[in-house]
Amino acid sequence: MTTTTKRLDTGELEERVKRMYEEVALEPDREFHFETGRPLAERLGYPAARLDRIPAGAIESFAGVGYFLDLAAIEPEETVLDLGSGSGMDSFLAALAGKPSCRVIGVDMTDKQLAKAERLAGEAGFANVEFRQGYIERPPVDDATVDCVISNGVINLSPDKPAVFAAAARALRPGGRLALADIVSAKQLPEGVTCDASLWAACIGGAMQSDDYRSAIEAAGFEIETWRENSAYRFVSDRADNATQKYGVTSISLLARRR
Ligand SMILES: C[S@@+](CC[C@H](N)C(=O)[O-])C[C@H]1O[C@@H](n2cnc3c(N)ncnc32)[C@H](O)[C@@H]1O
Repeated sequence: MTTTTKRLDTGELEERVKRMYEEVALEPDREFHFETGRPLAERLGYPAARLDRIPAGAIESFAGVGYFLDLAAIEPEETVLDLGSGSGMDSFLAALAGKPSCRVIGVDMTDKQLAKAERLAGEAGFANVEFRQGYIERPPVDDATVDCVISNGVINLSPDKPAVFAAAARALRPGGRLALADIVSAKQLPEGVTCDASLWAACIGGAMQSDDYRSAIEAAGFEIETWRENSAYRFVSDRADNATQKYGVTSISLLARRR
């Protein structure tokens, strides 16, 4: 008897993720498997008064899963790295929090997201925010140059999460922070879900079991200081909702410190 192990096609996944988030950048009013935009941001806890001070175009393409900038507590003079910066909402808010002297580098692999974020930064005069093309598994920044790594709704999309946490640790100075929101699951997801590139691209298929997720962060050299569930986040399609209920797929925010 032979057994076959299904595998996720990572090339297909990258293409699907790029296509999906290209649409989020270009057609933010379309319906996706997940919510987007200002109503989502406000429900997750983003202060409306802060959102009023950044480009509306970044908010309309917001596709994050939780609020975590209170945990990041960004200060002036700090350098911030936003992994999977999308159209730039968290990057702009981080720049605002660390005004006037902090510096923010957003990294994303999807051209249309980058182009939109760059255009918005130029138009709104956010001179201390720059966006770089790249992968979160090997972000284009020098080692030990960053004070705080942030990320929202992105690491679940990576087929190599330990590489992402290791890259974050490398980028950070000793004592630096990792503050993020992401999707995890209470139970290990079955192959039928984890090998489905379309469920990955919708932020479900790549959800790592939460104890494994914590272990991967700790193995990269972090100590987790805060871990909280974001009950306000919900998936919108029936298929997504079923997986969510059955396997306890949920949004979390966390703060971890590099040892
Ligand atoms: C769910 S969206 C979140 C974007 C943004 N953080 C926000 O909250 O709106 C995921 C983003 O991560 C990017 N992304 C996904 N996997 C990536 C990878 N391995 N390397 C770089 N960017 C990635 C996508 O292009 C997309 O812009």
